[in-house]
Amino acid sequence: MRKYVVTGGAGFIGSALVRGLLREGAARVVVIDNLLTGRLENLAEVRGSIDFHRADIRHYEEIAPLLEGAGVVFHEAAIPSVPRSIADPVPSHEINIDGTFNVFRAAAAGKAGRVVYAASSSAYGDTPVLPKVETMLPQPKSPYALQKLVGEYYASVFASVFGLETVSLRYFNVFGPRQDPSSPYSGVLSLFIQAILERRSPIIYGDGEQSRDFTYVEDVVALNLKAARAPGISGKCYNAGNGGRVTLNQAWDLLQRFEGVSLPARYGPPRPGDVRDSQADTVAAVRDLGHAPGYSFEQGLRLTLEWYKEQRGPSSSS
Ligand code: UD1
Repeated sequence: MRKYVVTGGAGFIGSALVRGLLREGAARVVVIDNLLTGRLENLAEVRGSIDFHRADIRHYEEIAPLLEGAGVVFHEAAIPSVPRSIADPVPSHEINIDGTFNVFRAAAAGKAGRVVYAASSSAYGDTPVLPKVETMLPQPKSPYALQKLVGEYYASVFASVFGLETVSLRYFNVFGPRQDPSSPYSGVLSLFIQAILERRSPIIYGDGEQSRDFTYVEDVVALNLKAARAPGISGKCYNAGNGGRVTLNQAWDLLQRFEGVSLPARYGPPRPGDVRDSQADTVAAVRDLGHAPGYSFEQGLRLTLEWYKEQRGPSSSS
């Protein structure tokens, strides 16, 4: 029976991936999470179908036995957030770099079939060209961007030197149900949705004209499943985005339209380390992985808004 391992499987993206694997019929899904930012509630209805381990990727001996003989390891465990990596760089360095090294090392030692690594679009930095193509020279602007890029380089070196099959997917601002809005470091759309449901104005850092290729989580799940199977791609890196670009002002306008309210945003100074514009070139992912995004930004945002409303229950604003 093929074994799948998802590190960070109790997190927002990891838990969606676990669900995606189960939907595909995977019989053996091992979930590793230290529950630092992940939550067991994210796995509530699938707990009986998975093998959950509270383990920390910073500790090689905790994770090595779990990765042994895995067909595919999806490495999602990370401390996200650009500003968090600036305010508190040590934990994000230890998890995103040392932890990632441990995952590759354990996968190689345990003869895993392939590791699909969650890389980040932040690697591109502020290179002026749009859309961002994988062949561009990375220019990380923050500790987080650098850490995620180091993981990519490790992925490619483990492929060439240690014979481990690896693929890196550069996620472009993933959003969707279960993204945790409870921290100031949370993804901007989860914060915007929380604000609109509480009928508050959000804070926009900068003029709001910065843009992102916001990608609905189910499209990222589908691409991971394709990357797990596609032949002849070991050691490579692909953009995991939809190829579009939406400004923060546009995203907030759309949410106000959905909810039929008018709540002007408040504006603050730009965040250090922030990238101005981000948009994926999808040519390589379409060609090599069969990437076929299924959700427009508007569709994804509607589904996400509905999910947060359901969580709040019937008493929430209508
Ligand atoms: C970056 C990466 C992304 C990665 C994420 C992990 C880029 C282009 N993207 O996202 O791939 O998944 O880190 O954390 O580098 N903002 C506000 N108000 C808020 C919060 C944020 O205006 O309350 C602004 C930020 O300044 C930024 C934008 O919203 O301009 C997006 O911020 P965020 O959601 O934190 O993601 P990135 O830093 O873009």
